[in-house]
Amino acid sequence: MIQESLPPVITIDGPGGAGKGTVSSRLAERLSWNWLESGRLYRWLGWRAAREHLDAGDEEALCGLIAGIQLRCAAGSRRLEIVGSPAFEVLADEAAADWASRLAALPAVRSALLPVQHACRLPPGLVADGRDMGTVVFPDARLKVFLTASVEARALRRLKQLNALGLYGSLNHLTQEIEERDERDRRRSVSPLRSAPGAWILDSTGLTADAVVQRIWEAWQAGS
Ligand code: C5P
Repeated sequence: MIQESLPPVITIDGPGGAGKGTVSSRLAERLSWNWLESGRLYRWLGWRAAREHLDAGDEEALCGLIAGIQLRCAAGSRRLEIVGSPAFEVLADEAAADWASRLAALPAVRSALLPVQHACRLPPGLVADGRDMGTVVFPDARLKVFLTASVEARALRRLKQLNALGLYGSLNHLTQEIEERDERDRRRSVSPLRSAPGAWILDSTGLTADAVVQRIWEAWQAGS
């Protein structure tokens, strides 16, 4: 059911490296809306779990960490982030992504993170990117996009992002890791990676981030 009183949401889901983060951040900027990069919540949890030597299956301890989460708007941006979260370089590497995708398969972790994500629905609106934004977290979103790209294009984008942060890796290795993670995200029983009913499937292979933002912005203007 669409709840008109809540601020509007645009969801951008898709596999790793499809450009969700860049596109969502620019779209949020253009609309002057808030931005939730939900992958960071899972990466943060992986980082905390590793730091505290938790067992990857210890749902109770993981939910305890989630219960302590406080959110704020990141300095100089529209991104909502966890208070005390480390610099993105710390969360950006593939080891953190791997931890994140393992914890993300735990049903208790996903449901504990739901209220945290709902709390990000703040006026005047929210752009939310991830894997299940349109299917589970914000099923009443006014516009749902499923952003894809070829695995080669995605691995190349990830490599460039990592290089820009001073992190390095081989393209072959990165391609393999992205494929493995996508597979795990697609196969898990809770909130698997899939396009939401009614989502617009947008293939960004060969498109610049600005061109993708322009298309989504036009679709939003046409529909709102
Ligand atoms: O988007 P990002 O690559 O930062 O996400 C890291 C991992 O977090 C993903 O591989 C996925 O397993 C998990 N994730 C998720 N649901 C989301 C966002 C991220 O399961 N909404």
